[in-house]
Amino acid sequence: MTKCTANRLTRRSALQFGGALALSGLAPSMAAIAGSRIPFGAAVLLEPFRNDPQLKRMLLDHVDVIVPMNVLKWDGIRHSKKFFDFSGADELVDFAVQNGKRLHGHTLLWYNANPQWLDAITSPKRLERVLVEHIEEVVGRYAGRIGSWDVVNEVVAHDPLNQGKWRTSVWYNVLGPKHVDIAFSTAARTDPTARLYINDYDLEDDSLRTKARQEAILKIVHRLQRKNIPVHGVGLQAHLYAERKIGRENLARFIDQLHRLGLDVAVTEMDIIDWKLPADKAIRDAAVAAKTREFLSALTASTTPRAISTWGLNDRYSWIGDVFPRDDQARARPLPFDRDWNAKPMFDAIREFTA
Ligand code: XIL
Repeated sequence: MTKCTANRLTRRSALQFGGALALSGLAPSMAAIAGSRIPFGAAVLLEPFRNDPQLKRMLLDHVDVIVPMNVLKWDGIRHSKKFFDFSGADELVDFAVQNGKRLHGHTLLWYNANPQWLDAITSPKRLERVLVEHIEEVVGRYAGRIGSWDVVNEVVAHDPLNQGKWRTSVWYNVLGPKHVDIAFSTAARTDPTARLYINDYDLEDDSLRTKARQEAILKIVHRLQRKNIPVHGVGLQAHLYAERKIGRENLARFIDQLHRLGLDVAVTEMDIIDWKLPADKAIRDAAVAAKTREFLSALTASTTPRAISTWGLNDRYSWIGDVFPRDDQARARPLPFDRDWNAKPMFDAIREFTA
């Protein structure tokens, strides 16, 4: 296809064309067809950001969107119930702003990474007050700098088929479903220009559990919209298991449902869980790149994600080896760069969609 033809394609025909090609296995990215470019993002850990000079270089050279990995979580900011400690977050935000990078905020509400004093709250009135105050303070501080937020993270149960729709957390246990309403309405009121996401994992295959998780997300979006509370998109974390197939049709259906509701999609935390892959590095890296391509070509056949972000850049600073250890003790290789900052095949796969 020539460039000239590509430029004349409307978005809709590009979508259909992309879809047709995708089905034929020749999927170019939607963005390539439409002539736009999908921003590439990466989550950043504070410690290597401070101590590994190469990380800053790579961010400057390759990354459009910086996602503070841990420092915006409650236990990053609220170790003391009396103070807000923005020191770590400010370091990353200042670097991003000074270097013309966009920022995505992670996260305003999670069941995990909460300081002990927060998890101990049992009064609904008090918990609501604390949540509202936190979001006003954090979103207010970074308004105009952090352009989008994972307002709520992982509020859907791991397995809604057996556990009910909602994730058990201090938020749900004390406030019930309205914890999500409070979070979104406070974020929207505090920074009306920010794009507000509901972020979650295991939304990419076609198992019954994943379908139930997608259904739960859609219900939460419906709930917010019924109450006229702004919600702009769904973040697909995309912690992808190398051994699981992407549910192409199911993913397309889910995205179509989100589009009908006026929502967009972002890839927020992509990495490839390589614990079951063969030990051989070349084979593993090829499989990781193949899974990246399988996912991104399925995704871009039905949408142009707002960004494609990986959960870190360098295998050395990934959480995957800790949480999904390999039987043979070999180190995990889930990210676009190896431990010495050599680009891996996964990086080339991502660039096909973002460059
Ligand atoms: C992880 C970080 O990568 C680790 O450094 C930290 O110790 C625990 O949290 N889903 C999320 C992220 O939304 O916040 C998690 O990040 C990974 C899973």
